[in-house]
Amino acid sequence: MKIKLIKSLLLGAIFTTATLSTAFAHETPTAPADWLTKENVFSEDDIDKAFLKKAKKLYKRKCKKCHGPKGDGKGSAAADLEIKPPVFNAAGYMADRKDGQFFWILMNGSEGTDMESYGPGTDVNLSEEQLWSLITYMRSAFTK
Ligand code: HEC
Repeated sequence: MKIKLIKSLLLGAIFTTATLSTAFAHETPTAPADWLTKENVFSEDDIDKAFLKKAKKLYKRKCKKCHGPKGDGKGSAAADLEIKPPVFNAAGYMADRKDGQFFWILMNGSEGTDMESYGPGTDVNLSEEQLWSLITYMRSAFTK
């Protein structure tokens, strides 16, 4: 009798855990093909210390509270988010994703998450160039 009870409790716990993790599993959506091929408007020639400094400042003002100063997704506001920011500085993360993917999310946000759109005409109203500069900064600072 006792063993049966423990067994059903255990099964219940396993079932609950499995159901919950399925419900909360979230995958960052992938940009449509025509966005993925978009290329950064800035090339290596444009990127110097001053450029990166300016982009870093913008990142600090608008992105750091969620994505963290190191891009590890542990910004001060991240704990309260149901869907957590990605770990940009995880090995391979930046390398595995195209600039067009990041640009798409920055222009459109990610539905159902706290990642908003930041492009022209939004509340934050960053220009497309500012968005590309943020992507350039992320690549330079977080690539592992
Ligand atoms: C309020 C919190 C918050 C702020 C502020 C924020 N983000 Fe995000 N961001 C998120 C979350 C959460 C996700 C995960 C979305 C998903 O997985 O669908 C995300 C996803 C992203 C992605 C998608 C990564 C990928 O693999 O496609 C990029 C790029 C990004 N953020 C860049 C930025 C930049 C740059 C800023 C500043 C302009 C910024 N974010 C500001 C919470 C935030």
